[in-house]
Amino acid sequence: MPGTCVIGLQWGDEAKGKLVDLLTGKFDIVVRYQGGANAGHTVVVGDQTYKLHHIPSGILNPNVSNIIASGVVLNPPTVLEEIHGLASRGIDVSKNLKISDRAHVVMPWHMAEDRALNDVIVDGEKIGTTLRGIGPCYRDKVGRNNAVRVGDMIRDDFRARIDRIVAAKQPYLSSLACESTLDAGEIYREYKAYADELQPFVIDTTAMLLDAVEEDKALLYEGAQGALLDIDHGTFPFVTSSNSSGVGVSAGAGVPGRWVNEVIGVVKSYTTRVGGGPFPTEQDNEIGQTIRDLGNEYGTTTGRPRRCGWFDAVAVRYTARLSGVSGLSVMMLDVLSQLPEIKVCTSYELHGERITHFPSHSEDLRLVKPNYETIPGWMTDVTEMREYSQLPDGAKRYLDQISAWVERPVEIVSVGPDREQTIFVP
Ligand code: IMP
Repeated sequence: MPGTCVIGLQWGDEAKGKLVDLLTGKFDIVVRYQGGANAGHTVVVGDQTYKLHHIPSGILNPNVSNIIASGVVLNPPTVLEEIHGLASRGIDVSKNLKISDRAHVVMPWHMAEDRALNDVIVDGEKIGTTLRGIGPCYRDKVGRNNAVRVGDMIRDDFRARIDRIVAAKQPYLSSLACESTLDAGEIYREYKAYADELQPFVIDTTAMLLDAVEEDKALLYEGAQGALLDIDHGTFPFVTSSNSSGVGVSAGAGVPGRWVNEVIGVVKSYTTRVGGGPFPTEQDNEIGQTIRDLGNEYGTTTGRPRRCGWFDAVAVRYTARLSGVSGLSVMMLDVLSQLPEIKVCTSYELHGERITHFPSHSEDLRLVKPNYETIPGWMTDVTEMREYSQLPDGAKRYLDQISAWVERPVEIVSVGPDREQTIFVP
């Protein structure tokens, strides 16, 4: 049975949530396996918009199990807020949501540290995190001494664990000139209440998923962020703290790679980035503002305006290879419909040389000059089109070019936020 994953191939916000919701009906289980409340996945169904940070985008289908797996860093109040928000709109998740006991917990000291370090300049600029405590939580996971996992919250020694960690964290936070004072008793009471409410959802998801693949169940893995933000293979240090490219699926879910046989790479028809870091095709000008306005490019999680630019085929070819992508889903094609001409970067100039590989050091990426190919726009509204044959020739040519540059077939095209506004390429 298929193990399929949906991976963003740019810097996140590629509209993966829409795609996961759309594909969910073909699967038994949808799995979120990395990242945390830094993600913001939007699903639009008719006149209803659902914004999810933790809960997999398959949750709107009651027949599908949704798993928050071991590689996720969980923010308990956020996930509870999502559970309550869905319940208030008639969506009961008590039967089809499970949370890993191995997932790490984002604690108040992680949020405080993320805020305290927000102004630090790294390699010339701020990372500009989502301030959700993601980096500090993953660092404590790797460091082990001061980690809290979901399973720890429902054990008898939870209070003692909090006391020990607070004793270690308070002097550290004070050294960062952070004003937060950690009250161990208060934190314990707050998080114990979260734990009590979350307990019915908590299981060993690794065991469950291994049983599922061996029983031939169909699994859909929902990547968060995008491959260019991958901690190991992205634009370090301007990245998130997890493996957000396709290489992270197995480790985060706890399912060997042999069970993942299809990878859908999701791209926007242009590029956006939130936060700091090099962005070769950025249009910090009128064109960028036009794309931002047409695409409503403001962060789901933080509301920050997204940096906008042209499609970067050099970057996407790299992340498609890195993620083992079999086919592409091109989102937000409608946004380009009002532009008389569209550019795509197909190579870079670095130190006077033309290159087609993606530089591994962000300093080199900052220095590259993009070489563009210019394509005439189609200037036709595509939002009502449902068949590939209806698309204007210019749009088809653009999709063909993307496919040729990235060396992967375009299989799905999105022409608007609603489920219906989707074209499956024959
Ligand atoms: P963090 O994940 O909050 O530590 O942020 C690190 C970098 O990743 C920042 O540039 C964020 O803007 C970016 N980032 C994190 N999550 C997302 C996302 O879901 N979409 C887009 N960018 C993200």
